Amino acid sequence: MTSEQNTGQPTEAFVWVWTPGASDPVVAGLIERIGDTHFFTYGGSYPSLHDAVPLYLPELPLTNKDRIRPLGDLTLAGCLADGAPDAWGRRVVLARRLGKVTRETDVDQLDILTYMLESGSDRFGAIDFQASAREYVPRQKSASLEELQTAAERLEAGTPLTTALGDALVHGTSIGGARPKALIHDNGRHMIAKFSSITDTYPVVKAEAVAMDLARRVGLSVAPTTLTRSAGKDVLLVERFDRVPGTTERIMAVSALTMLGLGEMNARYATYTDLADLIRARFASSRDTRELFARIVFNIAVGNFDDHARNHAALWDGKLLSLSPAYDICPQPRSGETAFQAMAIGVNGERESQFRVCVDAAPVYGLTSKQARDIIDHQVEVIHSEWSDAADAAQLTEGERQRLWGRQILNPFASYDY
Ligand SMILES: Nc1ncnc2c1ncn2[C@@H]1O[C@H](COP(=O)(O)OP(=O)(O)O)[C@@H](O)[C@H]1O
Ligand SMILES: [Mg+2]
Repeated sequence: MTSEQNTGQPTEAFVWVWTPGASDPVVAGLIERIGDTHFFTYGGSYPSLHDAVPLYLPELPLTNKDRIRPLGDLTLAGCLADGAPDAWGRRVVLARRLGKVTRETDVDQLDILTYMLESGSDRFGAIDFQASAREYVPRQKSASLEELQTAAERLEAGTPLTTALGDALVHGTSIGGARPKALIHDNGRHMIAKFSSITDTYPVVKAEAVAMDLARRVGLSVAPTTLTRSAGKDVLLVERFDRVPGTTERIMAVSALTMLGLGEMNARYATYTDLADLIRARFASSRDTRELFARIVFNIAVGNFDDHARNHAALWDGKLLSLSPAYDICPQPRSGETAFQAMAIGVNGERESQFRVCVDAAPVYGLTSKQARDIIDHQVEVIHSEWSDAADAAQLTEGERQRLWGRQILNPFASYDY
């Protein structure tokens, strides 16, 4: 049993893992909270399994039989934190406990282990958190897209959830991010359904749909998306890269925040330049630096400056990393022209959302200025030529097109001094 200290909150959780190619999970080890620190210990038999892989390196080496302290100033290993619910999932867990939540509800009233153990089991990457080391009990209920979307809306509006809707929504609490979402399965495909939010001041779901589509058209590797409607609202279905379609297999994955050894508290120190160095040192292909560069350029081109280190990820095979398909590319609202990317592009911390900054930083990404310019020019050309088709596919109204084009998408600021 999970022990609870007098706070009523758990102090332990078992980590179960789907090793590469496995259909079912096995126990990998135990997280224990001691003070403010979460230690991890591999289970006695896990390291000797023939297909055991470290949950992530250098954080959790299999050779370490002792309690492993999180690296640096982390209080929980990043690869485990990546599996925990984020702002949205925490609100769902709280809403189930309290009946409803409002914007004022303090999500810090429960600790991370509670959120790990009370959220759904279908989480990011190939791990799950369980109260027992003996029996794996998945916490998930299936529900229709419409039920999930209605539940998400009621939660956002501060309306009490019925037990059934709360149970259904738990299925979507396990994946990160702040926007309302749920996880769905359809014909063997695993998808994230991203809903409209009642607080949206512009058609966010359609804007994300058009940006993801354009990203594909300029040649980036992007998670496949489908725009649909449910209960009269737009919903973006995003295919998951951490699942194998038609199976129960899961693929290990980590966020860039984890790769950079950073936690939520110091996410502002994450930079693209450090990520590029890491790709050269630890990735299966150093060509991923070129893809990373192209993603930075594209984020600038479509005005997505919410490109923080949880919006980049890599797949982990136990030894090497490879960049995951791109996701969460969404043009952001912008009042003036000037904008800054969330992570520094240049070696001196340059973050301006401008192509010239990318060209100046080209060597960091293993590119010459000419190669960098070719990537930028190609993207700008394709965005111009494909805009109308992509806007049609995302069912943008004339007014929505006008509001996006030249403001979020290809804002003149991007091209100054280029
Ligand atoms: N296609 C995908 N496959 C697997 N995991 C994903 C995918 N897209 C997003 N995620 C995970 O879900 C989290 C939330 O998704 P995201 O699109 O970033 O939502 P939000 O807009 O709320 O930030 C991401 O941080 C990432 O961990
Ligand atoms: Mg996100």
